[in-house]
Amino acid sequence: MGDQMTSQNFLPQGRKEIQKSPFLPPLTKGERSTHVQNTYHRSHGIASPFEKGGVRGICSEAALAVLLLLCGPATVAFAASGDNAFTPTNIFVPFSTPAHAIYQNASLVLTICAAIFLVVGGLLAYSIFRFRRRPEHENLEPPQVYGSNQIELAWTVIPILIVIVITLATTRTIYDVQGALPPPGTVNVTVVGHQWWWEIRYPDLGIVTANELHVPVTESGNRRPTFLKLESADVAHSFWVPQLAGKTDVIPNRRNLMWIEPTEPGTYVGNCAEYCGLQHARMLLRVVAHAPNDFQNWVAAQKQPPVDDPQLRAGRDAFFSTSCINCHVIKGTRANGQFGPDLTHLMSRETIGAGVVPNTAENLRAWVRDPQHIKPGALMPNMQLSDAELDQMVAYLSSLR
Ligand code: CUA
Repeated sequence: MGDQMTSQNFLPQGRKEIQKSPFLPPLTKGERSTHVQNTYHRSHGIASPFEKGGVRGICSEAALAVLLLLCGPATVAFAASGDNAFTPTNIFVPFSTPAHAIYQNASLVLTICAAIFLVVGGLLAYSIFRFRRRPEHENLEPPQVYGSNQIELAWTVIPILIVIVITLATTRTIYDVQGALPPPGTVNVTVVGHQWWWEIRYPDLGIVTANELHVPVTESGNRRPTFLKLESADVAHSFWVPQLAGKTDVIPNRRNLMWIEPTEPGTYVGNCAEYCGLQHARMLLRVVAHAPNDFQNWVAAQKQPPVDDPQLRAGRDAFFSTSCINCHVIKGTRANGQFGPDLTHLMSRETIGAGVVPNTAENLRAWVRDPQHIKPGALMPNMQLSDAELDQMVAYLSSLR
């Protein structure tokens, strides 16, 4: 080097001067700091947003930062603004013990993430504004920073502490939810996922129904959780009623466990949450939470034998003379098929086709006439009934309250 001053002398140790490109005219002093950004644009003969007076790049970065800053809290605010009527699957409005535990943990994680976002986004926005390009700095290289023990320690230690806090809180939530033991008063239910409906069995009560799970609510001092054993008859499904509990997969040849404990009477909706074939999106779930006395009434009604009205004999005969009985159960009769929903108290359910349409006589007729018309791909075939047979059979089915 000797005493000859080159531009290299002004650069920090270890940093090489930006190389001139053989394809470009020599850089003037003022161009040097913008060389990197401008090379592409210049070599392609287009104006660079970073060229002198160009502010597009800075504006768009600042706009993006502001947008992100606004979006984060807005998203959280939207999610938290829970009007249950409009957001019946809102995980931010829990109505059950495990859902509440998950909500609390999620809130903690979201709060920490929002705080990180605000700090990082705020610093970013500040830096973009404070250190924006100004005409008086046109020819100056910004100060170069190489390493800072304090900053590097801070951005290593603080995230480690945050991860530890989140890990501990999440572990406790997982333990509370998955490690819970059924208290006395628990209702035991086996849920079997089928393409594309839910079979719901109460082994202790001798009740079988479909798509609508009835449970008691827990009132102060009187815990009545419902513990679910989840099984599949065919492919993988997933049981999810967002306001009552987390999502649990329903896997063939396996039994998964979960529980719900609604604290307010009402109907909670959910759906299959694992793609399971053509009608996955129409594999809906309803959980009806009753006050304890109402639940006892529901149980008593479900335990009744099926209605057998002699006036509906023709429809009954039509039903029992077709292959309907190979797939459906009507308790105490020859109908003991296991492939389709139990029909013993069909009309006690609010919907048919796993939530596809309300359970009215008109919809039931349309369903029996051609299930494929309402739910293409449904495994129930069109039985090719005449109009007269259809009317008789629907009259009989409509009596199964
Ligand atoms: Cu069952 Cu998706």
